[in-house]
Amino acid sequence: MIDNTIKYSYTNTKIEIALKLNTLTIKNYSEGINKKDLPFVFEQYYKADNNKKQEGYGLGLSIVKTIMDICDFEIDIKSKINKYTTVIISF
Ligand SMILES: Nc1ncnc2c1ncn2[C@@H]1O[C@H](COP(=O)(O)OP(=O)(O)OP(=O)(O)O)[C@@H](O)[C@H]1O
Ligand SMILES: [Mg+2]
Repeated sequence: MIDNTIKYSYTNTKIEIALKLNTLTIKNYSEGINKKDLPFVFEQYYKADNNKKQEGYGLGLSIVKTIMDICDFEIDIKSKINKYTTVIISF
């Protein structure tokens, strides 16, 4: 997840990581993920259309999701195009 936040961030932007009670939030400022792609980013080998030029196999988030499922944690991703992406994990 941290790899994604760095890889997909606009240059010279910050990454925000917050842990509050049972919620971990990781936010970066980037092109974001289109609404049509959002439901699929946790699938193996899925890369959003606007990010296909970036290196990677589309595996990171599917591995994270598998671990979250094993731990019975919830993971959600929200994005606003050309603004930000936020990954939220609830323990
Ligand atoms: N923080 C983010 N900002 C913008 N897009 C993101 C972000 N995190 C994930 N994505 C989008 O979700 C897709 C899936 O992410 P995932 O980590 O599974 O694959 P990847 O980063 O392309 O490759 P890999 O993790 O295997 O190196 C990415 O290709 C990208 O389009
Ligand atoms: Mg990745």
